[in-house]
Amino acid sequence: MSFTISKKHELVPTIHRIDVEALRLAEKAMPGQFVILRIDEHGERIPLTIADFDASAGTITLIFQEIGKTTRQLALLAAGDQITDFTGPLGRPSEIRGFGTVVCVGGGVGIAPIFPIARGMREAGNRVISVIGARSESILFWEDRMDEASSELYVATDDGTKGHHGFVTDIVQNILERGERIDRVIAIGPPVMMRAVAGVTKPFCVKTVVSLNPIMVDGTGMCGACRVLVGNETKFACVDGPEFDAHEVDFTLLMNRLAMYLPEEKEALERYEH
Ligand SMILES: Cc1cc2nc3c(=O)[nH]c(=O)nc-3n(C[C@H](O)[C@H](O)[C@H](O)COP(=O)(O)OP(=O)(O)OC[C@H]3O[C@@H](n4cnc5c(N)ncnc54)[C@H](O)[C@@H]3O)c2cc1C
Ligand code: FES
Repeated sequence: MSFTISKKHELVPTIHRIDVEALRLAEKAMPGQFVILRIDEHGERIPLTIADFDASAGTITLIFQEIGKTTRQLALLAAGDQITDFTGPLGRPSEIRGFGTVVCVGGGVGIAPIFPIARGMREAGNRVISVIGARSESILFWEDRMDEASSELYVATDDGTKGHHGFVTDIVQNILERGERIDRVIAIGPPVMMRAVAGVTKPFCVKTVVSLNPIMVDGTGMCGACRVLVGNETKFACVDGPEFDAHEVDFTLLMNRLAMYLPEEKEALERYEH
């Protein structure tokens, strides 16, 4: 069975949106879950978070950044093209219920997975304060959708081209220092950003959840590739996560394991581009 891409466009340079026809997945998908796809029978399996889902249209929306061979190859596909394997929804859904005031933080391509969580939190009756950030305005996307999903939205760019000149963590720190009660923080983005958010919220004792992105292969808890350390216990992000208590995550191990295959990844991309 193969899966058809119904829509495809580049949102901002190197970040693309694809909508894939997958009725069964679209009916079951929940915020926080992901799919594992393989473009063709020779391809590598890669995980991508479900950025949106539409059960009536039977589609799943993915947002991905061109980073290596497979994402570069995916970026070249167009509406009407087919993907060989499309497995999901995988992982545990985000815990969404009435917490009170929730801060949703999305950095870079992490804005995509934080969007359905912010929307779900708002629908569950929470006051949602969202903070999104990117290196520059030119690669910031879905500000409009995040605005709709949030009670308050703040933007940060590293170069100051939009919103606060600096990091999302500066804004999170300001929000916490305002002294109002914050019941939960959810942060999704590069590991270094998630680690920084965890560092900011810890002294305030605010429960903080991050979505981990270790290398995954089977997505079923069998291969061990996605092993992470949380509270000194080994967890498999594909079945036990991908969301975990940020104050318990060993981010150094996560980052070391993510960099494990850099020479092979570089070589695969060079061979592909050649
Ligand atoms: C649960 C989960 C959800 C994710 N959601 C998104 C998303 O919504 N959008 C997005 O742009 N990216 C997402 N990623 C990261 C995405 O899977 C990688 O960018 C992609 O696999 C890179 O493949 P590549 O061949 O293009 O690059 P490569 O050159 O092969 O790798 C580049 C880097 O990507 C990471 N990576 C490589 N292979 C894998 C793999 N099999 N599993 C996980 N990471 C890998 C490593 O850090 C690696 O150094 C997610 C990762 C996980 C684990
Ligand atoms: S990806 Fe194989 S155990 Fe998680």
